[in-house]
Amino acid sequence: MTGSSVPPFAVISGAQVQQALAGRERQITELVEETYRLHDAGDSVNPPSYFLRFPDRPSDRIIALPASIGGKVRVDGLKWISSFPENVAAGIPRASAVLILNDHDTGYPFACLESSIISATRTAASAALAADWLTRGRPQGSRPARVGFFGTGLIARYIHTFLTGTGWTFDEIGVHDLSAEHAAGLRGYLEKAGPGRITVYEDAEQLIRSSDLVVFATIAGEPHVSDVSWFEHNPVVLHVSLRDLAPEVLLASTNLVDDVEHCLKANTSPHLAEQLTGSRDFLAGTLADVMAGRVTVPAGRPVVFSPFGLGVLDLAVGKYVYDEVTRSGDLHVIDDFFHELKRYGA
Ligand SMILES: NC(=O)c1ccc[n+]([C@@H]2O[C@H](COP(=O)([O-])OP(=O)(O)OC[C@H]3O[C@@H](n4cnc5c(N)ncnc54)[C@H](O)[C@@H]3O)[C@@H](O)[C@H]2O)c1
Repeated sequence: MTGSSVPPFAVISGAQVQQALAGRERQITELVEETYRLHDAGDSVNPPSYFLRFPDRPSDRIIALPASIGGKVRVDGLKWISSFPENVAAGIPRASAVLILNDHDTGYPFACLESSIISATRTAASAALAADWLTRGRPQGSRPARVGFFGTGLIARYIHTFLTGTGWTFDEIGVHDLSAEHAAGLRGYLEKAGPGRITVYEDAEQLIRSSDLVVFATIAGEPHVSDVSWFEHNPVVLHVSLRDLAPEVLLASTNLVDDVEHCLKANTSPHLAEQLTGSRDFLAGTLADVMAGRVTVPAGRPVVFSPFGLGVLDLAVGKYVYDEVTRSGDLHVIDDFFHELKRYGA
């Protein structure tokens, strides 16, 4: 969008978002990589997320993620995402979200997109990107072929889709969840999704010991995995749910985050490790540091990637969706959305 006229305002449904993103795992993972590089180069504004919490509903929250991104994407905006864990028992997803895109030149909002799919997509793409970069230095053929999903909700499903959609194949797929029903749900999905022997582990330790790539996607509010010996086979851990691992596990691992200031907040496991040790020395750096060659991942230790989740990723994926829907000619514009446009009346 250019010039300083008022842009039309569009609404993009979840069905349109899904259609724009379906089968695009490689493109979106590349887009997320470019966005991490832009953010690393300082061509973004990404203030801390704002957590709205409720004294009478302590497990619920709504998070605001304002952000601005430069480069080719060049858009500002806000992601507004709710997490109501009780929804799952009622048969609807935990998370719901909208993304507002604002025009770079006028500040006008020009689109409202269904954003639970965008959020899950950028999260999964970032996990797949990390899995790739954190195993690049390994000898040919020694990339993990045993994956374990610790927590088996929507995010776990999306991460599986992005791993397989970016070239990963698994001989063994482990799943573990506090709820046998949820574990069976992901198992049913995986059986249809492709090859790999699937095992449901009731025991968390067995899942971790049987996986060289471990994906945490629970809704745990505080650490529940603290035994360092479970990680003695040095897996790559995608710690997407951020609060599962006790500081001891992080202190025995190589730790990478997406953004240091963001991640060392809100009682994430890295935040707890900082509080425990009084320093940030346990952090090796960011994924962008690895991508730029500033940090090398040593062999012989577990590697833990804890991504806080950056609003700039939602903007980049949201703008991609907006451009796709516009290109397809299906953009649903709300006529006269902005109405009071003459300073002193018509
Ligand atoms: N870092 C990021 O950028 C980012 C982005 C999106 C979501 N997330 C996080 O991913 C997590 C998963 O999201 P979702 O939409 O899949 O949630 P979900 O509610 O659909 O699934 C979570 C699953 O975890 C299971 N679970 C909860 N506690 C557990 C425990 N201690 N051990 C084993 N299983 C446990 C639940 O039974 C459930 O099946 C959430 O914590 C969410 O905040 C992170």
